[in-house]
Amino acid sequence: MSALRIDVTTPSRAYPVHVGEGLTDALGDVLDADGASDRRFVVSSPTVWRAHGRAIERAVPAAHVILVPDGERSKTTRTVARIYEELLLASADRSATVVAVGGGVIGDMAGFAAATILRGVALVQVPTTLLAQVDAAIGGKVGVNHALGKNLIGAFHQPLAVVADPRVLRTLPRREFRAGLYEVIKYGVIADRGLFERVARDLDAIFAREPDVLVPVIAQSCRIKADIVSQDEREGGLRRLLNFGHTAGHAIEAVTKYRRFRHGEAVGYGMLAVADVAVRRGALDEADREALAALIARLGPLPSVRDLSAADIVQATRRDKKVIRGTLHVVLPTGIGTTEIVDDVTEPELARALRAIGMRP
Ligand SMILES: NC(=O)c1ccc[n+]([C@@H]2O[C@H](COP(=O)([O-])OP(=O)(O)OC[C@H]3O[C@@H](n4cnc5c(N)ncnc54)[C@H](O)[C@@H]3O)[C@@H](O)[C@H]2O)c1
Ligand SMILES: [Zn+2]
Repeated sequence: MSALRIDVTTPSRAYPVHVGEGLTDALGDVLDADGASDRRFVVSSPTVWRAHGRAIERAVPAAHVILVPDGERSKTTRTVARIYEELLLASADRSATVVAVGGGVIGDMAGFAAATILRGVALVQVPTTLLAQVDAAIGGKVGVNHALGKNLIGAFHQPLAVVADPRVLRTLPRREFRAGLYEVIKYGVIADRGLFERVARDLDAIFAREPDVLVPVIAQSCRIKADIVSQDEREGGLRRLLNFGHTAGHAIEAVTKYRRFRHGEAVGYGMLAVADVAVRRGALDEADREALAALIARLGPLPSVRDLSAADIVQATRRDKKVIRGTLHVVLPTGIGTTEIVDDVTEPELARALRAIGMRP
């Protein structure tokens, strides 16, 4: 089986991201090749396990399996405590390797457990959602939510390897699949016009999850994220590019209490809003904004924002770490594939853009 390999090189660790159709069947060999110990603890969720557990068990027969729930609401220190308990009861020691098999929630929780138990054990990420394959599994950020906010408890813990098999995405609900595609479009806009155009051209085959089309799209997305985190492991500068569409996106998620939108869908609106700001500033051609809006529209209808108040969303951005006294640090697209980071987007400017994408004042 042929797999693509992308290297992530951070100061704390260098590791491969493998992308290949059917790689799950070779997971045991990949773990051996990438230096995972043979004390393997798979952390997954009942949903993922129903769909892919048999294949994983065949590929990694001696592993101890720990299943915990994986909704966003389960992404808590309590669930991590369950993972600690099962690891310790199964006599995990410093030589253990935690293998996270699931979406971003499982990856973040199992990763945080691996980062902290016994002061840190090895981790391998086996992402099973598109979002986790192109984003969450790469870069070493792990953690959980707190009642006072998302992802407030966490650590940096780079994995030994990431194993992304597009075949597992065939069981992913369409809405979850789409949620990951907004992040792929994000990569296109911030760094690669070719990727953007490929998604636009091959969208039907991508939705059909045809491996020949999906593998290069996932691999290129991983390459962009890998390059960025290799140059900026801890979000000093370049890593901020990954926040394109996320300032407004996070605010939209927070105002709707994380119930209405998948994260990627909120980022879809966030990208549209920032593109509107960029056009009004003369930084972006209207034709590029239209291309972005057209591609986002082709993914399917987004949950409505008509009842949301632009003023409420602006207010919610003030809680964002990236906001400094009334002006916003924003990644502005200057074309499809190029951006600039500005720190002077005003609240009225953002409010106007949010009205332009359909919100009430
Ligand atoms: N660490 C990072 O850098 C980073 C980056 C982006 C997002 N995240 C985090 O990722 C999380 C979101 O991840 P997500 O979108 O993968 O959500 P998720 O993990 O909740 O998975 C979404 C749903 O898909 C199901 N599922 C997973 N794989 C499946 C499969 N192959 N077939 C069928 N169903 C499957 C899950 O059971 C779940 O119901 C958020 O908590 C976010 O904070 C982290
Ligand atoms: Zn995101």
